[in-house]
Amino acid sequence: MARSAADHGSAGKPQQSARAVAIAPSILAADFRRLGEQVSDALAAGVRRIHVDVMDGRFVPNISMGALVVEALRPLTEPVGAVLEVHLMIVEPDRYLADFRRAGASAMTVHVEACPHLHRTVGAIRSLDAQPGVGLNPATPLVTLDEILPDIDVALVMSVNPGFGGQKFIASSIDKVARLRAKLVERGLGHVDIEVDGGVGPDNIAELAQAGMTIAVAGSTVFNTRASVADNVSLLRSTCAAHGFVVR
Ligand code: DX5
Ligand code: ZN
Repeated sequence: MARSAADHGSAGKPQQSARAVAIAPSILAADFRRLGEQVSDALAAGVRRIHVDVMDGRFVPNISMGALVVEALRPLTEPVGAVLEVHLMIVEPDRYLADFRRAGASAMTVHVEACPHLHRTVGAIRSLDAQPGVGLNPATPLVTLDEILPDIDVALVMSVNPGFGGQKFIASSIDKVARLRAKLVERGLGHVDIEVDGGVGPDNIAELAQAGMTIAVAGSTVFNTRASVADNVSLLRSTCAAHGFVVR
């Protein structure tokens, strides 16, 4: 992911610019009959991160999609250098990491609640040359990330209970993001992205960015029948811009 070369933190690692946000459309909300077209529309609108929600019916109540879908999207994302990220809402994710990497995922997020050996799992993602991310359900406290923060690229704050798209945003997530950003800064880990997932849209994206979010997952606010993907992305982008944030 692009970093600002001028912006370095105390640990000598490049720090994430607090003023830049990436939009990561979640294809869970897409029209699967024309999935390729919808992802192409998002890429044409300048999106460079596509969020693939993988659900197993065990960690979360729903079953969604797997590596085959990632593989199908790769010819669209690869030519423009977009990241395909998998959000693994599954038990025993270690069993599938290599498959997702082979399929084209270059960022993989697992859940604290699903990984008894989280350090090993994060190491396995890193050894596959993918960006490791770790996610927290709404009721899981930030302290559960303390030991793993130096090893990850993305900390995912779930702002709904995972399992379904189109749910109502849990407002207390904004404070959770702010506390996580403060913790990262304090520890010289400002380069770690904070991704927020669930109910993110024009009403809260700027406030979340202000709190320290650097990646906004957006499903039903990007893929819906009310407006085109281009217009929906453009609204998120202009909302961020109006508050002084650059969308990368
Ligand atoms: C929820 C998923 C989300 C979801 C977001 O379990 O992880 O990525 O698709 O959808 P919206 O933006 O509609 O809440
Ligand atoms: Zn997700």
